[in-house]
Amino acid sequence: MPSMKLTAAFLAAVCLAASTLAAPAGTASAPQSSSTAPYASENSNQILWSENQNVAPQPIRGNLGATLLGPQNLATDLQNADLLAPPSTDSGTVGNAKWPFSLSHNRLQTGGWARQQNIKVMPLSTEMAGVNMRLEAGALRELHWHKTAEWAYVLKGNISVATVNSAGENYFDTVGPGDLWYFPPGVPHVLQATNDLPEGSEFLLVFDDGGFSEDSTFSLTDWLNHVPKSVLAKNFRTTESAFDKIPGKELYIFPAGMIKKYNEYILGYKAPVGPAGTSKMPYTFHSSELEATNLAGGSAKIIDSTTFNISKTISFAEVTVEPGHIRELHWHPSQDEWSYFLEGTGRVTLFASSANARTFNFQPGDIGYVPASYGHYVENTGNTTLRFLEVFKSDKFEDISLNQWLALTPPELVKDHLQLDDATIALLNSTKVTVI
Ligand SMILES: *[C@@H]1O[C@H](CO)[C@@H](O)[C@H](O)[C@H]1NC(C)=O
Ligand SMILES: *[C@@H]1O[C@H](CO)[C@@H](O)[C@H](O)[C@H]1NC(C)=O
Ligand SMILES: *[C@@H]1O[C@H](CO)[C@@H](O)[C@H](O)[C@H]1NC(C)=O
Ligand SMILES: *[C@@H]1O[C@H](CO)[C@@H](O)[C@H](O)[C@H]1NC(C)=O
Repeated sequence: MPSMKLTAAFLAAVCLAASTLAAPAGTASAPQSSSTAPYASENSNQILWSENQNVAPQPIRGNLGATLLGPQNLATDLQNADLLAPPSTDSGTVGNAKWPFSLSHNRLQTGGWARQQNIKVMPLSTEMAGVNMRLEAGALRELHWHKTAEWAYVLKGNISVATVNSAGENYFDTVGPGDLWYFPPGVPHVLQATNDLPEGSEFLLVFDDGGFSEDSTFSLTDWLNHVPKSVLAKNFRTTESAFDKIPGKELYIFPAGMIKKYNEYILGYKAPVGPAGTSKMPYTFHSSELEATNLAGGSAKIIDSTTFNISKTISFAEVTVEPGHIRELHWHPSQDEWSYFLEGTGRVTLFASSANARTFNFQPGDIGYVPASYGHYVENTGNTTLRFLEVFKSDKFEDISLNQWLALTPPELVKDHLQLDDATIALLNSTKVTVI
């Protein structure tokens, strides 16, 4: 929408027009209704059950709906109350905005596994795709690169990362739970779970293209067994027999084996140093060391390229919402949101304009997706802290708060739209509350 400059003359004209329309001649009090629409429904639209309740949920809300007579997937219905018995505020069509990693095909390897979400399983997610990856202690995600950027958030354990950029600079670091890494498109890297925890590590990857597939990355071993050995010999100025033992297929994820000491190597004890030296621009960010900002109903930690400079296409917020509170009604002006639920349970309604709205319920391990500009909130529907990530395909985190928008609009205009009383207008907050 083009931005509109609210000049004093314009405001005066609007107020005059509104009062002329609304108030009968002679009554010069507060603006009256100029609404030509009926009032919004007073139906209560709470979530009707939670997943740990011992009930057989039914598609009934108030006097609408009827019992299920056919077969029922009880566990799924218990987790998705607002799909089976939607609030009456839901209407029209909104694409599916929930994907549990539990429904992803898992690629099991010696040393770990990986499962992914992309546009094939969630057509709404055009701008970003996600991967959940697990490496046993010492196991490697092999040397590889891809066409998209890779952003990561560590869930458990420590991971060593190593990269080399086009300037010939290398970079090594080890990150732990809550920390990040970012590799721009095409920049090759390798990941290894360290031995700090006997079970290794697990992490989340986000790619800045909804069509990304983890199965089509460019891997070292895949490439080399598709190059004639005579060419390898020329390239490395040696004999073909030097490559007798290279793997005949992609390794992808594999245990450390002979390179158990690789951690030490990666930590820099014996790191090679080239003429260009080590990259001054960090490819990792220890966000776990930053304090979150405390908010009225929870907390938020925002990290984008203003602090993690290299992360030019991904920004993120780690948010907590306490029981009874919500991540306030807001939208992101030009960025799609890929969200990931870490703990607790939440409820999100996507408002897609043109009377289209749909509510989804989320559990730990679920992905959510909110296209740019869709109005939404995140409500804690449980009795424990709700913690989730909001990930954006952008260099800066940005949102627009409904509350702040209304607080900073002349109250006469707000009253003309919503017919709020002065006490309610006085509660509007010109400071963004984020979680309330
Ligand atoms: C990760 O590394 C840090 C720093 O080396 C260490 O303090 C921590 O114990 C390691 N393990 C985990 C699981 O974070
Ligand atoms: C990141 O950018 C900020 C702001 O431009 C700058 O102050 C800081 O030095 C940069 N950090 C690195 C590691 O380049
Ligand atoms: C929260 O606790 C209350 C009181 O113990 C209980 O009735 C309710 O079912 C709980 N809600 C959830 C979502 O667990
Ligand atoms: C507005 O929000 C700020 C930050 O949460 C809070 O300190 C302040 O008291 C709020 N003001 C009103 C009028 O609610």
